[in-house]
Amino acid sequence: MKFFVDTADVAAIRELNDLGMVDGVTTNPSLILKSGRDIREVTQEICEMIEGPVSAEVVATEAPAMIEEGRKLAQIAPNIAVKVPLTWDGLKACKALTGEGHMVNVTLCFSAAQALLAAKAGATFISPFIGRLDDINLDGMELIADIRTIYDNYGFGTEILAASIRSVNHVTTAAKIGADIATAPPEVLKKMAAHPLTDKGLATFLQDWEKTGQKIV
Ligand code: G3P
Repeated sequence: MKFFVDTADVAAIRELNDLGMVDGVTTNPSLILKSGRDIREVTQEICEMIEGPVSAEVVATEAPAMIEEGRKLAQIAPNIAVKVPLTWDGLKACKALTGEGHMVNVTLCFSAAQALLAAKAGATFISPFIGRLDDINLDGMELIADIRTIYDNYGFGTEILAASIRSVNHVTTAAKIGADIATAPPEVLKKMAAHPLTDKGLATFLQDWEKTGQKIV
């Protein structure tokens, strides 16, 4: 499973990237707002640091304007994936932009039917939002499983980018189902290393080591 980091926080991306954990980055207008940075500036900085795809989202809602914004965003760096919402106009923009050779991430996907349309429109990535479905008592993981089945049934190459990930369990369950990528906030990726038995075991080892009176260096 590939890991994308869902943030526009450059320092957080750098820390994970130095560990080799970052296969790509996803941003959206809310994350740009949170960063307090200029979209072009911060996106370019991220693109220079990360080899993999960096999603930057359009904000126009009609296809011609979305396409224009997508072309502009794609000029920032060769590893930009233009992010478009899963609307009818978004699908038109997806088709046009992928036709021009750009990577396109179709976002705000909440149903298998939407995901099927995105694949037909040539999307590079489909972003089903797990957490936001769970928020309204629907099953985000069921959606990931449905999309996996449908894409495998027909051999669609669109990669499933599990998004709106809020917990470690979201990552591991999406991995078990076979999502190609998980995009998660840095805090969630770091939490994956934590286990109470690891902490407990380490504390015992350190106490016992102290009693030996030895030193390694
Ligand atoms: O990847 C999409 C993500 O940024 C949305 O997450 O937690 O706002 O639903 P969330």
